Amino acid sequence: MDIAVIGSNMVDLITYITEMPKIGETLEAPDFEIGCGGKGANQAVAAAKLGAGVMMIGKVGEDMFADNTVNNLQRYGINTRFVETVPGVSSGVAPIFVDRDSFNRILIIKGANNHLLPADIDRAEQQLKQCRLIILQLEIPLASVYHAIDLGRKYHIPIILNPAPASRELDINYACQCDFFMPNETELEILTGMPVDSEENILRAGRTLLAKGLKNLIITMGHRGSMWLNANHVHRVKPVAVNAVDTSGAGDAFIGCFAHYLVKDGDVKQAMEYASAYAAYSVMGKGTQRSYPDTAQFHDFLATLSQE
Ligand code: RIB
Repeated sequence: MDIAVIGSNMVDLITYITEMPKIGETLEAPDFEIGCGGKGANQAVAAAKLGAGVMMIGKVGEDMFADNTVNNLQRYGINTRFVETVPGVSSGVAPIFVDRDSFNRILIIKGANNHLLPADIDRAEQQLKQCRLIILQLEIPLASVYHAIDLGRKYHIPIILNPAPASRELDINYACQCDFFMPNETELEILTGMPVDSEENILRAGRTLLAKGLKNLIITMGHRGSMWLNANHVHRVKPVAVNAVDTSGAGDAFIGCFAHYLVKDGDVKQAMEYASAYAAYSVMGKGTQRSYPDTAQFHDFLATLSQE
């Protein structure tokens, strides 16, 4: 297996809004989509759609969403042996609001994802130790994230930690044991308490985090592109300009694609370039996973970009 994603599954309930209602007000919204999401699953699906061999360790609830979630992962060839049902608990759910400018606001109800425990990860140890990369996010208990990092280190498996949603409780010493720490600019702001309203300020906040001992920090910055910082250099990747309709899950698209190419070629800068284009493709369509291109669609898109 190329990649193990230890993380969340959610059901995305996406409402496209023209404005947020005030307290006591009822407003009509123009559109709605339901789809499979969750940061872990999104990243797993992005990598799998590009051809990576992916296994997922995760949880679903005992409800009407569970089978669809597992079937969806399987449809993309993801190994779901360790995606288990938690009795008597709901699946994770994410009400998402996307505004006219394509920007998203997300609430999460973790549900079953909160029941992914260190012991669940241990049960997958024999399969995990054969993986070439582990991807983690923060929609499961922090203790499980730390346990996965310990296991990854034990077997010298590179680890990507996407600190999303941002949590000030995250133990930075664990983050420092990961090979890549990948927040977006909002998460960076929460983690550092510093402004991220310009590329300069993002760099300043990033350097503060890096100074704590991170190996590699890759910040996804939406319309500003992405930035890779480590002790030796700063590398910027320009955004790919497209007409965005829905930015939900774009960061996950970036990470899943980055992970795929990192495992495939081991070239960080090239993986960032591809990830940037992949995320750009994803914002042109509605939804999270369903807006991610497969290999053929992505190659066609890259070809159009190279003609510009
Ligand atoms: O990053 C986007 C994802 O965040 C959505 O799919 C939603 O489920 C939440 O986990």
